Amino acid sequence: MDKALAYAARHRDRFLADLIELLKIQSVSADPARAGEVRRAAQWTADFLARIGMEHAAVVETGGHPAVYADWLHAPGKPTILVYGHHDVQPEDPVDKWTTPPFDPVVRDGYLWGRGTSDDKGQYMTHLFALESLLATDGALPCNVKVFIEGEEEGGKGMTHDFVRDHADLLACDAVAVSDTSWMSPTRPSIVYALRGICYLEVKVRGPNRDLHSGMFGGMVQNPLNAIGKLIASFQDADGRIQVAGLFDDVLPLTEAERAEFASVQEPEDAVAADLGVPALWGEAGFTAVERNWGRPSFDVHGLWGGFTGAGSKTVIAAEGGFKISFRLVPNLSPEKVAKLVAAHVQKHCPPGVVAETTYLHGGTPVMVPADSPFIQAAAQAFQDTFGQRPALVREGASIPITAVFQEALHAPAILVGYGLNSDDIHSPDEKFKVAHFFGGIDCNVRLYDAFAKVPR
Ligand code: BES
Ligand code: MN
Ligand code: MN
Repeated sequence: MDKALAYAARHRDRFLADLIELLKIQSVSADPARAGEVRRAAQWTADFLARIGMEHAAVVETGGHPAVYADWLHAPGKPTILVYGHHDVQPEDPVDKWTTPPFDPVVRDGYLWGRGTSDDKGQYMTHLFALESLLATDGALPCNVKVFIEGEEEGGKGMTHDFVRDHADLLACDAVAVSDTSWMSPTRPSIVYALRGICYLEVKVRGPNRDLHSGMFGGMVQNPLNAIGKLIASFQDADGRIQVAGLFDDVLPLTEAERAEFASVQEPEDAVAADLGVPALWGEAGFTAVERNWGRPSFDVHGLWGGFTGAGSKTVIAAEGGFKISFRLVPNLSPEKVAKLVAAHVQKHCPPGVVAETTYLHGGTPVMVPADSPFIQAAAQAFQDTFGQRPALVREGASIPITAVFQEALHAPAILVGYGLNSDDIHSPDEKFKVAHFFGGIDCNVRLYDAFAKVPR
């Protein structure tokens, strides 16, 4: 292990140069025009894995965007760890808000700036460089390792979930190591033990069969865009409580112990509000911000369209419009069931005179790993030895849907050892990844595999 750490220290410049090469590939999974770029990122990753001595390295077809598989299984009796990450990235728009071009990464002020630096290329590469360091110095790994890097975490068809279910033998493991989360703050290394799920839907509202003059017809018909306003408002009351009938039947209430634990790690709410530039935080009455984010379902509108938004004014009643929404899910909500409840809610609350149609786009089940899992304890030790302090065990409001599939199909816990920061601006302009966390993550992962190797089977 010491030789591997020394190797990693010696090769830092090359690691960074390799990562920058990968980041230049525009693997935006949501953009059909760049499907070839997603494939190129998969091929780059597979080639890298083959080069460092991982076996069976290959791009694997999923029916959607391709994934990457490789393994090294020569540690009989030791646990098998599946390293997961995603080589696809979010769209870069609005591109004019970036200080430097999203796909031409640069190091500035101790950060590497560019799309995918923190989410997730820079993070999953911390594992691949740790594997390189171990294989180059010891010629072996301390435990069995399989690598599975997907290409459609951020969008696309989600066919990779079916691939996992259909290839449970290939991917069989004792635990999944995932670096795709962030720390509470730069001084609070964190391991995440719970992720929320998600239920993402689109609603279309149709009115008259053509756009109408709002003077000639105003007052005679329901305006689809007025109806959209009413529909959106119906999902939540003034105190932020979700109004979808039946949704709370399955919500596991937070225990007093959980609320106390959250309170002990949360950032001060006024500091969060100041950082975000909002006059105050807001959400479901009766819960703190961190309780709402980690332990309660939430509802958000992501976009709405229809009618006239150009310069000047136009007196029109648009024939149709629509909106995209999602609900973040906590145990024991299922995305499929929530989708049905929401569709029923839309029918019930759709104003008269228009027709609404709800489409379920995708979902993910919430994930919870017992905080006393020996793999979490092993990871905590690797963090302690690398970053000089015991990591905070925290939850996360965001989702990594495939982790629930790993738990269900492979019966393996997802150990969320992320090296990002909440201030990395993932999905936004000026995404970045702290260079010290990139190198620290590589060192930490070298220790992680060693610690995992000692977990009794
Ligand atoms: N890596 C993120 C999830 C994440 C973000 C975890 C920040 C912890 C901290 C992941 O790539 C992501 O963006 N997930 C999406 C999933 C969605 C597209 C189904 C999310 O949470 O919106
Ligand atoms: Mn991610
Ligand atoms: Mn993401």
